[in-house]
Amino acid sequence: MSKINPNNFRNALGQFATGVTIVTTIDDNNLPVGVTASSFNSVSLDPPLVLWSLSKNAKSMPAYQNSGGFNVHVLASHQMDLSNKFARSTEDKFENVEWDSCEEGIPVLAEYAALFRCKTNFQYEGGDHIIFVGEVISYETNNLPVLVFHAGKYADAKQKSVKAEPILAGIDLGLGQFSNDFLLYLLSRAHFQTSYPVRKECLRMGVSEPEYFCLSLLSMSGPISRKDTISRLEHTGHHPDSEIFARLERKKYIDSNNNDITISKKGREVFISILAQSKALEEQLLKHFSNDELLEANNFLKKLIKITGSDIPELW
Ligand SMILES: Cc1cc2nc3c(=O)[nH]c(=O)nc-3n(C[C@H](O)[C@H](O)[C@H](O)COP(=O)(O)O)c2cc1C
Repeated sequence: MSKINPNNFRNALGQFATGVTIVTTIDDNNLPVGVTASSFNSVSLDPPLVLWSLSKNAKSMPAYQNSGGFNVHVLASHQMDLSNKFARSTEDKFENVEWDSCEEGIPVLAEYAALFRCKTNFQYEGGDHIIFVGEVISYETNNLPVLVFHAGKYADAKQKSVKAEPILAGIDLGLGQFSNDFLLYLLSRAHFQTSYPVRKECLRMGVSEPEYFCLSLLSMSGPISRKDTISRLEHTGHHPDSEIFARLERKKYIDSNNNDITISKKGREVFISILAQSKALEEQLLKHFSNDELLEANNFLKKLIKITGSDIPELW
């Protein structure tokens, strides 16, 4: 009995980024058959061989074992829906899909980044999969960006820039100078500039920065002790002391119940008005970025937060 934990093993294998293919063939009734497969790989240049593996549970297994050939379509970046369609056993996979037959009668999909038409040369037992090795009879490529599969998710392939040096190069410790590529400088400058209008609004409303952080935390959580409030705000560099809690109470922004505090109706109104300002500001800023840029920035910032402290707690 193997000691390998199947989920961990699957996750570890998922770290190997692959392309995504749809492998087609025909069954005994000459009906089209296809599955999504990321197990495709090259084997040999001379003779030209490729391989892929199919789960023994796949309904289409007999078709691949008996047909004598298969066509591998390397999917393009925009073909995610098609990939999902061919990964569902229940569907009529070819419904509403454009395809044609090659000489051997095996389906050729209308769109792909690359196509390899293969004769099945070998079939090997591989645990719960069968490994098919095909000799490539012909192939074609289109100059399309390809679909990538990594860690259980689809992704796009993005080439690294040729300049491989880290951007840290802009720091001179001897002179005590840094260039405007210094990441920590960029992060703090971006923070100060983006938060400036909101900090100004706080000031106008007579709410100090630590008070704002307290209200923000209290607005998202239920009753919370003063001690927990202090520890949850540690990352801001502000340490709310009894003075701040007393001030918030005097302004009637918080209610106290024994050790716990909650945000009051008045406190929530103040917080919401500042939050509205933040939201409007964010909407203005986001217009300058593409969805991909935003997703990348979001992932980058969350990763940075994780490695310098801890995960952001789920707020809602
Ligand atoms: C991105 C992706 C990659 C996949 N790769 C493989 C693979 O290499 N081998 C395999 O057996 N199943 C793979 N699957 C699952 C099959 O596509 C799925 O089980 C398929 O429906 C089996 O076909 P069937 O209709 O013949 O049962 C993959 C699914 C996805 C979404």
